[in-house]
Amino acid sequence: MNTNPNNLIKRMPLAGKYQPFPKFHYPERQWPDKKLEKPPLWCSVDLRDGNQALITPMNIDEKLEFFQYLVKVGFKEIEVGYPSASETEFQFVRKLIEENHIPDDVSIQVLTQSREDLIRRTFESLQGVKNGIVHFYNSTSEVQRRVVFQKSKEEIIQLAVEAADLILELKIEAEKNTHTKIRIQYSPESFTSTEPEYALEICERVIEVFQPTEVDPICINLPATVEVYTPNVYADIVEWFGKNLKNRKAVTLSLHTHNDRGTGVAASELGLLAGADRIEGTLLGNGERTGNADIVNLALNFYSQGIDPGLDFSNVQETIRIFEKCNKLKVPERHPYVGELVFTAFSGSHQDAIHKGFQHISQQNQSKQLDGGSLLKWEVPYIPIDPKDIGKDYTAVVRINSQSGKGGVSYMLEKDFGIVMNAEEKKQFGILVKDYSNQYWREINSLELKKMWEKFLAKSNKLPTYKMET
Ligand code: KIV
Ligand code: ZN
Repeated sequence: MNTNPNNLIKRMPLAGKYQPFPKFHYPERQWPDKKLEKPPLWCSVDLRDGNQALITPMNIDEKLEFFQYLVKVGFKEIEVGYPSASETEFQFVRKLIEENHIPDDVSIQVLTQSREDLIRRTFESLQGVKNGIVHFYNSTSEVQRRVVFQKSKEEIIQLAVEAADLILELKIEAEKNTHTKIRIQYSPESFTSTEPEYALEICERVIEVFQPTEVDPICINLPATVEVYTPNVYADIVEWFGKNLKNRKAVTLSLHTHNDRGTGVAASELGLLAGADRIEGTLLGNGERTGNADIVNLALNFYSQGIDPGLDFSNVQETIRIFEKCNKLKVPERHPYVGELVFTAFSGSHQDAIHKGFQHISQQNQSKQLDGGSLLKWEVPYIPIDPKDIGKDYTAVVRINSQSGKGGVSYMLEKDFGIVMNAEEKKQFGILVKDYSNQYWREINSLELKKMWEKFLAKSNKLPTYKMET
């Protein structure tokens, strides 16, 4: 008998329009027992996928500023555009090359569809590059084959292989300039809506053309062009795909997730557990529809596990500035790690625990300083990483409103003004602040709090007690 009342009444009867992804049977999976131990190879696609999704795409100056920031952060692979798509895109690639903006250890990546005219134009844009990656793609999903291309599976394979043949020819030509190295990347676009066996087959046929080796690998990128299933399914398929590749060592396995179900970051992480080597994504997740995998989020997730991510996000205020200026988008207050409110506690019990956590850290600090000890472990409840490590300060950690308690109030007065209260004062004053904030139904800043405290003392005929500076 169905006892769940939610299942008795139909609330959204049109749900039947949508089909669940067919089950992927893979009991051999090993990824659930794996651990993320080192960061992947990162590739930023801000200047291509991110840019394609903007209301007002970046102009050349904005693209250059963004590019220079990506280099500064430490990206070694940067997808800079889609040169066959527009003159601006083409000219931007030319500018990077002709004005020597690309450091020797950075590869620029350019995207092209698998069409002869577009491929030729793409190679033209790369003339004189030192390290270039030609990224070609075609859609492989069943719906796109049937509805958009009206081609059979074999015809779609032919399309990819013909593109690969031409790309190989143009790569050999380009590399006659001994200063130039062109690497290849192929994406079976809409991978997540493609039968996994077919995606593997088409990738193998493309790989055959280039004959990659362990020292000169090809990059196979598996895009969740639209995120259609849960991250565990993506991980199963990625692991299966990697294990079934004929020459896995000659392949850099790359992931490119979007965030339609809100789990783009999780899918990338599980895909790494499943054996992928490389991640494509964007800063703070800008990208088509709900965006791409957020590389800041992913990198700082590594950081919070004690792993240096290989990208420098020690000043996220600068990341936010570049993101907002070039993308003309706002960073939401709750955005992981970088949002204005993500290291802020309003609720009393959280504030109390944070206060105690900071006291504990400061005591630990003092004893470490005495014995000249190593790095202190971060142990502040509710605050997953030290905001200072990413260029934020502690001012916002505790904020006061009607949800707050005496712990938060005393923390704020002590932190901002060195005022220390005894237990009874904390209790009395805490009640007063709560009443006040309930009455005015808004946040109370620390100056207001100090004035209230002074009035409170005046009424009780007392002088404030200040903490001694150490
Ligand atoms: O999302 C996608 O499929 C893409 C490809 C071109 C890699 O952006
Ligand atoms: Zn994409």
